[in-house]
Amino acid sequence: MRMVLLGPPGAGKGTQAQRIVSRFGILHLSTGDMLRAAAAAETCIGRKVKRMMASGALVPDQLVIAAIVERISQADAGRGFVLDGFPRTISQAVAFDDLLDTEGLVLDHVVELRADEEVLLDRILTRAREAMESGGAVRADDNRETLKVRLDAYNEQTAPLVEYYRTRDLLRSVDGLQPVDAVTFELFRAIGQG
Ligand code: AP5
Repeated sequence: MRMVLLGPPGAGKGTQAQRIVSRFGILHLSTGDMLRAAAAAETCIGRKVKRMMASGALVPDQLVIAAIVERISQADAGRGFVLDGFPRTISQAVAFDDLLDTEGLVLDHVVELRADEEVLLDRILTRAREAMESGGAVRADDNRETLKVRLDAYNEQTAPLVEYYRTRDLLRSVDGLQPVDAVTFELFRAIGQG
């Protein structure tokens, strides 16, 4: 199974991706996690993106496209994957379609997790507080000011993908405001696996 999760910051993409991985045994490919790992390791790419990510802006298309092309070409991606945070722009979606065509692969599902901005702010601030209380690392972009930039980026650059995938008859929308288990239940039903 090959699947894309769409949704604004804090909508639950990562949380639901883990449930999908547990159920179907496919790979979880999060461009956010890949970029954070590169930043933490201070690779050449990591050094370039660290400040952009902390500001809440998207990093350049070519960079994430190259990372995804490289990762999907590895053998373990053959059993399927759920993409969390990619594609995030129309250019990324077009490049991803080209990649699928070239590899002779089909995208099975695109699921949009819907949530309103007040709840997203609450989730992001809660995650930051919990990380701080447990002595863990707080994401540099998990604060009120940066969330605003992340939401603007989502609304301007990523939200057009909802229509992009709707016209390809791939889009399913799920209410991401429900408790985690209820979202999972609705998501599995939306992809015909309920
Ligand atoms: P990324 O890491 O992808 O962050 P994001 O999209 O902003 O999303 P989050 O990880 O914050 O939220 P999520 O939707 O995964 O929700 P989660 O399950 O974690 O991207 C970070 C940055 O990297 C970008 O800003 C950009 O700079 C760069 N980047 C990444 N990909 C890129 C790309 N393709 N192109 C360009 N730049 C890119 O949940 C959030 C919290 O809510 C958690 O604490 C969770 O426990 C809680 N929660 C989840 N679901 C529920 C629920 N149903 N009820 C209550 N709480 C819930």
